[in-house]
Amino acid sequence: MRVLSGIQPTGAPHWGNYFGAIRQYIDLQNEEQSFYFIANLHALTTVREPEKLRQYTYDVALDLLALGLNPDRAVLFAQSDVPEISELCWLLMTGAPMGLLERCHAYKDKKAKGLPADAGLFTYPVLMAADILAYDSDTVPVGEDQMQHIEVCRDLAGSFNHQFGQTFVMPKGKILEHSAKVPGIDGEKMSKSYNNTLEIFEDPKAQRKKIMRVVTDSRPMEQPKEPESDHLFQLYSLVATPEERDVMAATYRRGGFGYGEVKKALADAAEQFFAEPRAKRSELAAHPERIRKILADGAARARKKAAEVLARAQKACGVKA
Ligand code: TRP
Repeated sequence: MRVLSGIQPTGAPHWGNYFGAIRQYIDLQNEEQSFYFIANLHALTTVREPEKLRQYTYDVALDLLALGLNPDRAVLFAQSDVPEISELCWLLMTGAPMGLLERCHAYKDKKAKGLPADAGLFTYPVLMAADILAYDSDTVPVGEDQMQHIEVCRDLAGSFNHQFGQTFVMPKGKILEHSAKVPGIDGEKMSKSYNNTLEIFEDPKAQRKKIMRVVTDSRPMEQPKEPESDHLFQLYSLVATPEERDVMAATYRRGGFGYGEVKKALADAAEQFFAEPRAKRSELAAHPERIRKILADGAARARKKAAEVLARAQKACGVKA
């Protein structure tokens, strides 16, 4: 079985990215053959500053490696280092119904807001289909918001196979656990667009300040509280040890504590939880040539597979003998 997923390089990763996706990618590397790539061609639809795009792309590699991605197990590469993807994308673009793409939410939402959309955004799902099909991927772990794109991929693969004969492996989407559940500092879903994130690698002092500002309700201190429904507790549960979590849950149920104490405990637990990746990240950051080598090796492995699938597709549709 081959697992594949892409991560857009659009800025510093936050807890929602980690607990909702990255952690699970890293777990999967031990069970399945996994391909993870940095979707810089997709990011080009939103990041229009070259230096930033370059930096973000490199940073995603650094972040993933610091968080435990093992390049001997998983294939890690940048999307743009596999030009076969763009060629395959064209083959899929012919035959992709306009109506299908018009229904896709990224484009549709922008259109509905009266914002100008470009062809890149419109055909975004086709490039994503090329990403997936190029490696004969079986399983694509993604957040719920990406499931529509996986359906488009399956449609495109199905009609290509129907028209030109069995060419592509039919992939399945797999919704990541917790992808919708990590709360932000305002209690809403953590998301960069809501400006409510806690970054994984931000300075612990700055993070502590942010945590002290987490929105809480105004119930009196004495009142016992249900931990599970409180976003401060939910955040704490992500970074505390199971024992710490149980102690905190009991404190909530007992009542008579202040949210300030919980925030302090949360900041401590967070610092502890990410201490090792933080140290590893600084160590890796001192050796950019290692990161580049890992990405180059990953791209070579990815290209080998993508070239094989591209040749198969080119032959099937008649652009190669
Ligand atoms: N569109 C995905 C996102 O924004 C990233 C992505 C690009 C991707 N290509 C992919 C995910 C292929 C899975 C498979 O999260």
